[in-house]
Amino acid sequence: MKEEIAQIQSDALTAIGAASGEQELDEARIAFLGKKGRLTAASSGMKDLSKEEKPVVGQLLNATRGAITEALEGKRNALQDEADRAALEGLDLTLPGRPLHPGSLHPLTQLGDRAIGILRRLGFALAEGPEIETEFHCFDALNTPPEHPARNEKDTFYFDSGKLLRTHTSTVQIRTMETQPPPVRVIAPGSCYRRDEVDKTHLPVFNQLEGLYVDTDVQVGDLKGALEFFYRAMFGEETEVRFRPHFFPFTEPSFEIDARLRLEGHDPEWIEVAGCGMVDPAVFEEICKSRGDELYHPDKVTGYAFGMGLDRLAMIKWGIKDIRLLIENDARFLTQFA
Ligand code: DAH
Repeated sequence: MKEEIAQIQSDALTAIGAASGEQELDEARIAFLGKKGRLTAASSGMKDLSKEEKPVVGQLLNATRGAITEALEGKRNALQDEADRAALEGLDLTLPGRPLHPGSLHPLTQLGDRAIGILRRLGFALAEGPEIETEFHCFDALNTPPEHPARNEKDTFYFDSGKLLRTHTSTVQIRTMETQPPPVRVIAPGSCYRRDEVDKTHLPVFNQLEGLYVDTDVQVGDLKGALEFFYRAMFGEETEVRFRPHFFPFTEPSFEIDARLRLEGHDPEWIEVAGCGMVDPAVFEEICKSRGDELYHPDKVTGYAFGMGLDRLAMIKWGIKDIRLLIENDARFLTQFA
């Protein structure tokens, strides 16, 4: 029996040594150590042995099982090493890695985030409204009469339903006051739509940021202070800001804001950056009617509002000469803002 066991061990080691892959190795394991394997079969001969021989042969069987198991393990590792080596062959480990191109925020998003960040420091909260609007929210409630040119079909996208794509974010002023009691201090960035021919400075969809502050004693000085702070934070402390009288249907008095900025390669010049003014009492009256209460009665509250073009602001800030670059998704342009 001892010779038989020695033979099994020698056959097993030969088979393991000759195995050229995972599968052959497994076959060898089953052939020798498996339930019906040769070593297992040999063990069953134990019962016929004498008392003295039993422990000796038992030990031999164990040692053999150990030796075969060890050989299997060693061969498995060797096969794995070989496979690894083959996989790495021809690979130049000194090559530099492939560069990663992490994405980055679109310049308009960056600018919008910055603008929102500055205005939040002044206590403004974000508000929003739908892009598909009613004529009431876009015009009537904003004191814009039916014959006003902005309401012209040539300038505005109307749906058959009579609704329209909002032409400005001023609609959010109305939506906010309809649903919240005073005081309100909100900003609303968002897309607006006008039937403009596409050129360097016009797109039929563009972005504005609206602001509205209504309380019991809001004055022109508050408006001036807030917006001067905003443009200095946006363009630099030394930025000069001026308010020019203007007309908007929904504010009285109204102003256009110019900032004195240096565009790339130019001397500093006054550039129009926003419209603003004190909320017209007619707007408050319309809100009272719509709400069915007097919380916004023009004898009780005053307020200021402003609206600025974000695309335009981005173009000024980074010297972008063509607004179309902002929507073309050309990586050569966008990666400059990464
Ligand atoms: N809605 C105006 C526009 O689209 C911008 C504007 C001007 C907004 C004056 C205002 C404002 O809130 O007070 O041109």
